[in-house]
Amino acid sequence: MKETKLAFIADTHYFSKTLADNGRQYHLRSGSDQKCLKESGDLIDAGFAKLAQSDCDAVLIAGDVTNDGETVCHEEFREKLKVLQKSKPVYLITATHDWCSDDNPRRFAGDLILHDVPTMHHTALRDFYADFGPNQADSEFRTHLGVCSFTVDVGENVRILALNDDQNGRGGAGFSEEHFQWIEAQMAKAKRDGKLVIGMEHHLLIAHVHPLVFGGGTCVAEREMVASRLADAGLRYMFVGHSHVSAIDSFTSKNGNTITEVNIGSLVGYPAPILFVTVCDDGLHVRMDRIERFTYEGKEYDAQAYLARHATDLFDRAMEGALISKQEFADRLTALQLKGNDLKNLYYILHPVAKLYFGATVNTLAKCMRLVGLGRFLDPAAVRQYRDKPFRDFVHETWLSILDGHGLGNEDENYKKLVLGVADALVQVRACKLTLEIRQMLRTVVTSDYFKDAVI
Ligand SMILES: [Fe+2]
Ligand SMILES: [Fe+2]
Repeated sequence: MKETKLAFIADTHYFSKTLADNGRQYHLRSGSDQKCLKESGDLIDAGFAKLAQSDCDAVLIAGDVTNDGETVCHEEFREKLKVLQKSKPVYLITATHDWCSDDNPRRFAGDLILHDVPTMHHTALRDFYADFGPNQADSEFRTHLGVCSFTVDVGENVRILALNDDQNGRGGAGFSEEHFQWIEAQMAKAKRDGKLVIGMEHHLLIAHVHPLVFGGGTCVAEREMVASRLADAGLRYMFVGHSHVSAIDSFTSKNGNTITEVNIGSLVGYPAPILFVTVCDDGLHVRMDRIERFTYEGKEYDAQAYLARHATDLFDRAMEGALISKQEFADRLTALQLKGNDLKNLYYILHPVAKLYFGATVNTLAKCMRLVGLGRFLDPAAVRQYRDKPFRDFVHETWLSILDGHGLGNEDENYKKLVLGVADALVQVRACKLTLEIRQMLRTVVTSDYFKDAVI
């Protein structure tokens, strides 16, 4: 079979610079998001330049192309697509952030958040992006929202099944019965045509890493039913976005059919992944590349360092709020889309924790834990090895390892023992309702490498 080379990206979340100044509200919003906002256009430019120079046969984008469906974001983003399309065929699906499904459009001006931002209606999206899928499609399905799924051939033997899973008509993400029947008919047709089908949708079929983080609304509703139905229709591969994390997992239906899902992280957040996929006789060779450098406001940055810092600032800014004042803490929680005013009394508990967070090394953490009778959870040899390492570095490194999908599998045993020891101590003190799940999740992060370059 002739090899076909594809490139997948997701969650470009393009944010127009016209939607914000450099005021307090923008900084609260920007500092409470793992991905970038105003930098997104420059990161996309860097990513698109890389794609244009690559040897891929087509570029595929798995939804959430704009920040939140703002018309200006769609218009500016489409101009970037048109430039890329001069070098490569580009196909995309839209997703719920492309029509502001939460009905809460925002722009930021000084101390104000304004909601007077025009957004694109879901019925307009299909025609707006017609040159990036529908016009080249072999077959197309319009959902009850007016958005579309389509099939398109991208190589001699490869067909993309691009699915819009915004709503299933029953209140969740997924597919209506009519939509499923169209998918099943496309799978049967592809078999007759001798095509390998590769699926792309936005929401997950599999709760990667742990259901605590990627279960619920991150997946399509009734995820096992949907995954089974797709697998039983003969679909072997699905590429998804939405979680902003990279991962690969498989699901096998009761009938014994397996579908492998590749979750693509956000292009505008750490680690700015671009997945290059070569379709060969022995399967799909998946390799993660990353944006290395980008230019923002006239200055060139190391993209990996910049994005890692932006992602870890999420924790640091919330903790910093707990050092400053009760009101600042509440404002920063609100920026994180939490109920800041309801939670602001947590300030009294988190104030000393924040001091520890910013100041403690492993050694001071161990001393504090011994003082409150939790010393047994930290392995003495591990404490000795890492005694001078700031505790905050462990939080940062764990978070980044979740985002890039590499877990902490490559760290040494003592490192893993420390992370798990803290998790076990949290369970002991029942720090919150979810401690058991958090520990289980950390065990997964510590022990597995859930995204690695692979043949699937
Ligand atoms: Fe997203
Ligand atoms: Fe999403």
